[in-house]
Amino acid sequence: MANNEDLFKKIIAHAKEYGFIFQSSEIYDGLAAAYDYGQNGVELKNNIRSYWWKAMVQMHENIVGIDAAIFMHPTVWKASGHVDAFNDPLIDNKDSKKRYRADVLVEDHIAKIEAKISKEIIKARKRFGDAFDEKQFVETNPRIVANLEKIEKIKNCLYPAMENDDMTAIKQLIEDLEIACPVSGSRNWTEVRQFNLMFSTNMGSTAEGATEIYLRPETAQGIFVNFLNVQKTGRMKIPFGIAQTGKAFRNEIVARQFIFRMREFEQMEMQFFVRPGEEMKWYEYWKEERMKWHLSMGIPREKFRFHNHDKLAHYANAAADIEFDFPMGFKELEGIHSRTDFDLKAHEEFSGKKLRYHDPELNESYVPYVVETSIGLDRQFLAVLTHAYTEETLKDGSQRMVMKIPPFLAPYKVAVFPLVKKDGLPEKAMEIFDTLKPEFLCFYEEKDSIGKRYRRHDAIGTPYCVTVDHKTLEDNTVTIRERDSMKQDRVPIDEIARIVMERLAVSL
Ligand code: GAP
Repeated sequence: MANNEDLFKKIIAHAKEYGFIFQSSEIYDGLAAAYDYGQNGVELKNNIRSYWWKAMVQMHENIVGIDAAIFMHPTVWKASGHVDAFNDPLIDNKDSKKRYRADVLVEDHIAKIEAKISKEIIKARKRFGDAFDEKQFVETNPRIVANLEKIEKIKNCLYPAMENDDMTAIKQLIEDLEIACPVSGSRNWTEVRQFNLMFSTNMGSTAEGATEIYLRPETAQGIFVNFLNVQKTGRMKIPFGIAQTGKAFRNEIVARQFIFRMREFEQMEMQFFVRPGEEMKWYEYWKEERMKWHLSMGIPREKFRFHNHDKLAHYANAAADIEFDFPMGFKELEGIHSRTDFDLKAHEEFSGKKLRYHDPELNESYVPYVVETSIGLDRQFLAVLTHAYTEETLKDGSQRMVMKIPPFLAPYKVAVFPLVKKDGLPEKAMEIFDTLKPEFLCFYEEKDSIGKRYRRHDAIGTPYCVTVDHKTLEDNTVTIRERDSMKQDRVPIDEIARIVMERLAVSL
C-alpha cells in the first residue's frame, strides 16, 4: 500500500464522521498537530492500551507497571541528555516560508533513490520470472550499483554531520544534492540551525520564584528515576521490567500525517533491566516478542518490517524500529533500543544517589543495562485503523464500508436492535441489552431500517449485531449477525454472551 494519499484522506474523513478522531479545538479552526479522540476512538484507544498492558505486565511475571508524573525535576532532563541533545536540525525555505527538518529533506531524497531501485527490481522480476536472482541483479545492474553508491555517499556525509552537530555540513549537503522545497520548488534556503524539541513551562505562583520545568518528551525517564523504588519495594530480581503508558510532548518542527506525528501524544514504554553484557541477548528477545505482539492482532507479517538504525541515539548501543506499512508507506511504529547503562549512570551522577543492583547470584553490585521497547499508542491506533478500513463490493453489486477491527479491540462488541419500534420488541431488546452490558460494551439502537443500522455498525467495527424480532417473543431466540461474513444465525438468547466471548478470544 504505497503512498496512497486518497485512501489516507478517506480514512481521515471516516475517522471524523464516525466519532473516532476530531481536530482539536475545531470550532476555533483547530490547533495544528493536536487531535481529540471521539466516543469510538477513545474506546479503541483504551482497548489497545489494555492489550499492550496485558501483553507486557500480566503475561510477564517479572514486569510491573508504574504511572509517574508528567512534570519531573528539571535536572532529570539535563541528566538524560535531552536539554543538550534532544534537537532536530531546522531549515526554512525563504520563498514558501515552510519549515523543514533538514535531515528529513535529505532522507526523503534518499527514499526517492531507493524507490527508483525498487522499480528496477520489480521490472526485472516481471521480465525474468522464476529465473530472477534479485541478489545478483542488485549487485550487477550498473544503474542500481550507481544509485546504491550515491545513497552510501549521502549517508556517509549526513550521519557524521548529525553526530557532530555540524549544521554547515548538512546545509552543504542539501545544496550539493540540489534539494528543492516541495512547495515552492525553489532552493532558496536559510541556514540550518538546531531546535530543541522540549516544551517548557513555569511552575510556581510568582514570577521570581517560578522554576522552568519541561513537559516530558518521553515516559522512560519516569521509569529510570523510580528504578530503585520499584526494585526494592517489589523485591524485583534482574532481569525485570517496568512498564508505563502516558502522554509525552514534543515541539515537532513538522508535525503532519494526521495522528502519526503530533506535538502531544501517548507512549507505551517498558524498560527491561539486565546484567551488563547480556543486553544483546535481551535486545534480540524483545525484538521478537514485540513483533509477535503485532502479529497477534491478525495483521499480516508483510505489513511490518524491521529497520536497524545506522545512526544511534546518544544513549543506545543498538536500536531497531518496527515499521508498519501505513498509507503513506513504511514508517516507524515502535522502537526497540539497547540503552546501555547510560540513563541510570547519568542519574547517579546528577542526583548523587546510587542506582545499583546487588546481584545475589554474582554477589556483586552494578548499574544494570537497559533494553527498552517504546511504541506510540496513537501510531498503533493509526495502524489498526488503516488496516481495518475496507471498502467491499457485495454479491448484489452494492458497496459497503466495514472496519475490520480485531473484535477484541472494537469500540462496541455487540449492538442490540429491535426489528421494529413496536409490539414489545424494544422492551425485549432492552432486556437483552441489560443482561449483556456488564460483560461487554454494548450499543442499543432502534432508529432507521435494520439494513442502515447494520451499515452504521460495520462502519465503526462492531463485530456482532443482535436483532430481536417477533419470533423472539415466541421462542426466546434472536438473530446474531457477524460483521465480516455478514452471516446471520438464529440462537437462543442465553447463548449470545458465550458466542461473543468466544469470538473475542485472542492468544498472546
Ligand atoms: N523512550 C524512547 C523514545 O521515546 P522515540 O523513538 O523517540 O523513542 C518512541 O519514540 C515511539 O513514540 C515512536 O516509535 C513513535 O511510535 C512514538 N512517537 C514519537 N514521536 C511521536 C510523535 N511526535 N507523535 C506520535 N508518536 C510519536
